[in-house]
Amino acid sequence: MIEETLERWQSRRAFILAVTGAAVGLGNIWRFPYMTGENGGSVFLLLYIVFVLLLGLPMMMAEILIGRAGRRSPMQALAYLAEEAGRSPHWRWLGLFGAVTVFFILSFYSVVSGWSIEYLVDSINGGFVARSPQEIGASFETFLADPLRMTFNHTLFMLITMSVVAGGIANGIEKLNNIMMPLLYVILIVLGGYATTTSGFGEAMAWLFTPDLSAISWQVVLNAMGHAFFTLAVGACALMAYGAYMPEEQSLLRAVFSVALLDIGVALLSGIAIFSVVFSHGLDPGEGPGLMFVTLPIAFSELPGGQIWLGAFFLLLLVATWTSSINLAEPMVAMLVGAGWRRGRASLLIGALVWGVGLLSVLSFSTLAEVHWIGEMNFFTLVTTVPTDLFLPIGGLLIAIFAAWRMSPEAASAALGASGRGFGLWRALVRYVSIPLTLIVLLSGLL
Ligand code: PFF
Ligand code: NA
Repeated sequence: MIEETLERWQSRRAFILAVTGAAVGLGNIWRFPYMTGENGGSVFLLLYIVFVLLLGLPMMMAEILIGRAGRRSPMQALAYLAEEAGRSPHWRWLGLFGAVTVFFILSFYSVVSGWSIEYLVDSINGGFVARSPQEIGASFETFLADPLRMTFNHTLFMLITMSVVAGGIANGIEKLNNIMMPLLYVILIVLGGYATTTSGFGEAMAWLFTPDLSAISWQVVLNAMGHAFFTLAVGACALMAYGAYMPEEQSLLRAVFSVALLDIGVALLSGIAIFSVVFSHGLDPGEGPGLMFVTLPIAFSELPGGQIWLGAFFLLLLVATWTSSINLAEPMVAMLVGAGWRRGRASLLIGALVWGVGLLSVLSFSTLAEVHWIGEMNFFTLVTTVPTDLFLPIGGLLIAIFAAWRMSPEAASAALGASGRGFGLWRALVRYVSIPLTLIVLLSGLL
């Protein structure tokens, strides 16, 4: 059995920042609004919040505590803890399943983050000044149809991601995050303030916050559950990899609670801003993955000094996606490092493979647009739905089962940093609420 890792986050705050960095990203600002738009608005929002609190949060604790108790890469941590508790050694395959999941997620995550690089450069160059909403929409289409530009941005993003991962657990990045996260929040609040002055604000609020139960279906419930996992970065053993570096003396309960609230807050603010624009300009809420890239430039172009706000926004978004993609890459690299690879080499190999598969997403907007992999789905549609809506909940379910039923309770409660009452409550929640609920939604959604 391989030795446990001695690396640690340099402070408690560093750990919280790293987890916040992993959580807040495209999921909040890009994916949340378009999924809400495609899944009937308020119902999706409501389900997402319920799932974050009942499933995401307790399972996030489960995942991190496994990493912390195992102090190894996910596969090895699971193998070690299973052996220690006299359980089947096959639990380690869960770590591999997580690596497969993050592999596919990172492949499209990098492509879409590349879109924000393009928009950052465009907004600095004044590309959105005095443009009509139609023109802004059309220029996005033109960009999507240009695989070379998209590949360039995707390549750049993979490079900045893997170079940090190659350097070991991200010490510089934590500091960057420390400054950038609050700024991102400030910009979103400004955007929210702007939204209240638009003609579509009332309609947007009603659409987001008046539950319309007629829009509910198993598909919507399944999508909301998948999104709750995605946005918290739970279910792929990625946070498990971060848990391995958690300082000895820190309460996990408190750390993750604030992360979940922040995550919901960012999603709500960007949802309010985006849907106010949608309803002010008679756009389609169900427009899909392009929603944010069309609405926000419109919003900013109407703000005084809009160009500066827009540039700043895309810069901050880029930092948010950067910290998430570092988290996505970590479990894969940690797995190879655990198998004796040098970190730099492991990062190079993983980066190259993910980059290559990402090209399929790039081409899904041009050459491969009509190539259907399953049903009507082209590669981009497939890779943005199945790993998130199925793999993450399945991974989360298994992680929860391991932490709440299979691990030794002593190891689990020590790693949770809570004994007695706190541990009992957490375990009861996972055993009797999170696990059954995830199972029910998964099975019903699939049938
Ligand atoms: N939580 C990230 C976001 O909302 O953008 C995405 C993500 C990161 C998903 C890490 C899964 C993961 F393991
Ligand atoms: Na998120």
